[in-house]
Amino acid sequence: MAFFNALRDVPITRKSEFTIRGVEPHFRSPGHYDAAWTEFRRTQEADKNSVWVSCGDLTDDDRPSTRERRKAMFADRTEAYTQEDKDYIKGLRQQMDIKIGRIADSCAGMVAGDHYRLFANGTNSVELICKWYGIPYLGERMGPVRLTFFRADEKKKGQRLSASGASLQYNMIVRHGRGGGTTNGADVNALERQNKEFDADLFMGGHTHKANAHPRAILRPNQAFNGWKERTIWYVRVGALLRGFMPGKELYPEKKEYGPLLVGWGECTLTIGRPVAANRNLEIMKSVGKTVVL
Ligand SMILES: [Fe+2]
Repeated sequence: MAFFNALRDVPITRKSEFTIRGVEPHFRSPGHYDAAWTEFRRTQEADKNSVWVSCGDLTDDDRPSTRERRKAMFADRTEAYTQEDKDYIKGLRQQMDIKIGRIADSCAGMVAGDHYRLFANGTNSVELICKWYGIPYLGERMGPVRLTFFRADEKKKGQRLSASGASLQYNMIVRHGRGGGTTNGADVNALERQNKEFDADLFMGGHTHKANAHPRAILRPNQAFNGWKERTIWYVRVGALLRGFMPGKELYPEKKEYGPLLVGWGECTLTIGRPVAANRNLEIMKSVGKTVVL
């Protein structure tokens, strides 16, 4: 697991918006909805005040059981495994250049979920993709990301203010997720339950291909001990860019008798501002979690 601190300068005079998007693309699957990816990529590219994360299943490669079988298949022929990796990596690079090359700079991290390729040398396809584009690899299944926002000097444009309270840390836990219920309620509960022992401001999860965004308020006694300090944390299940039922195709979700899958992504938009009292810290004045469904 890697800890990644994405320093973001958000020049704040009065208030400023910043969006974090979570996506599970499933590239290379026959059900991958490429028009939805294009929509996501364009949205991300046009929004300079944003980052995105991959919640796993970036590609629709081997699942845990097929990874084991592939390893066993080449047990006595490592050179054949290496050769197959080479061919695969070539195609993957070409595809990823086209798909994520243009928005790689604003990617704050990727986790390896269920589907990824394990190479003969022990590394995996998500790790390799991250290395190619300088994206933080957050590890298998889950990893934390911290965004640090800075207040800029209003007179000297763009210069960071170093005064205390001129920065704001926002912690996220990006996970793939496991299991899942049939109902929407069970899906929300599962994401909350799996993060129960973790403290962060935003939890993003994938895996179930459902889409929902759910806030929770946390109260603790304030510093002066004369009132409550309130914080809102968000749980966002990001859907996936994968269609399960298509005319003329027998896709895996249909064969396994899954429910219809939601195609889209999840996001959380923060309005960061300076409270009225000028000597106060930067604060999140508003947060909106939502799902974009196509
Ligand atoms: Fe998935």
